Amino acid sequence: MKLLIKNGTVVFPDGTKKCDILTENGKITRIADKINENCDTINAQGKHVFPGLIDMHVHLREPGFEGKEDIESGSKAAVAGGFTQVCCMPNTNPVCDNAVVVTYIKHRAAEVNLCKVNPIGSITRGEKGEELSDIGKMAAAGAVALSDDGKSVMDSKIMCLAMQYANDFNLICLAHCEDANLVDGGVVNEGKNSTLTGLKGSIRATEDIMIAREICLSESLSIPVHICHVSTYSGVQLIREAKARGVKVTAESCPHYFSLTDDIITNFDTNTKVNPPVREEVDRLAVIKGLKDGTIDCIVTDHAPHSLKDKQVEYNLAAFGISGIETSFALSYTKLVKTGILTLAELADRMSAAPARVLHLDGGEIKEGGTADLTIADLNEKYVIDSSKFISKGKNTPFNGTEVYGKINYTIVGGEVKYSNN
Ligand code: DOR
Ligand code: ZN
Repeated sequence: MKLLIKNGTVVFPDGTKKCDILTENGKITRIADKINENCDTINAQGKHVFPGLIDMHVHLREPGFEGKEDIESGSKAAVAGGFTQVCCMPNTNPVCDNAVVVTYIKHRAAEVNLCKVNPIGSITRGEKGEELSDIGKMAAAGAVALSDDGKSVMDSKIMCLAMQYANDFNLICLAHCEDANLVDGGVVNEGKNSTLTGLKGSIRATEDIMIAREICLSESLSIPVHICHVSTYSGVQLIREAKARGVKVTAESCPHYFSLTDDIITNFDTNTKVNPPVREEVDRLAVIKGLKDGTIDCIVTDHAPHSLKDKQVEYNLAAFGISGIETSFALSYTKLVKTGILTLAELADRMSAAPARVLHLDGGEIKEGGTADLTIADLNEKYVIDSSKFISKGKNTPFNGTEVYGKINYTIVGGEVKYSNN
């Protein structure tokens, strides 16, 4: 099977170039100024061709919480968001702490057959923080990383063992950083707005202490660690300094941390409730600077779909999370590239090449011989985010009504069109 993409502006690691791309049997076989071939053709005139976007932090909720999302609805939402590959967190029911659940997720994703779905196994059994999961067996079944996302592994001895054990199987631990004692029921960032609203705040140190511990473990053991959803200026600084002295630490942040501040919580909209919380302007600017200088390697969504009933309750009781997979590309392009902060090549790096590097995944770059995972977008198309139109079951977003640029036109996985917006 062949597919020809003509006249697009292709985003390469060293910049953009107008050229044609031919794919055959799932691979990119030719990249040239002009290719003529009698086969299915997409005219990408006026559009940009990116390496298939990779979201290394999503919650697909299956098994167990299919009312919020399932592998089918999540995969459909992912390809609509331009993602050719996602990695799903293990806080399902049952928790993905063994090879059976890893295998189930892979089977279900293969049946759905839209984007690639890479399961992340839990670090500890049941995400309880007490004993290690079946790490070796999950690795053999195809888990691509380990995480207890949603909480930190509070016992340093267990985290230390997990990092060593994971490394033996070539897996990395993705650390959700939140000191369980210090958070003490906080639901928003502690500051002027928590005082104003009366909502219980959580200080930056809640996150930073755990970032610092993961860096210490990584440095002592000389084993890589990856910091999830960085939200504090001080956390960015800890990671920057660690990288500068050679610690094998990588990190990610999300569109809500570089787009929003906690000013938005003052209307008590539970769609603004997320963990870690959105913080202050100093933090937002630090996350942006971290993404620019590479301190923060990856943009992820932390796509956390919830049902209406999980969110239509008082702020303190509402579930944490933002449904983000359908808005990530446009928000990242609008807030980071259109503003002149990142180049298109840097955006492609943070949203595709860097996640592929961190997790040793196939993809991340458009090159002859590479897998034909491609995302085609119209960067000039302006639209208003409308959560009622989300394909995801989760309509929980604080970005409803936000004007953005960057419409996904086609998502191509292994040379097959898995999403087209017309
Ligand atoms: O806001 C969040 N929601 N943060 C997390 O770490 C977990 C996630 C969820 O599973 O809903
Ligand atoms: Zn998390």
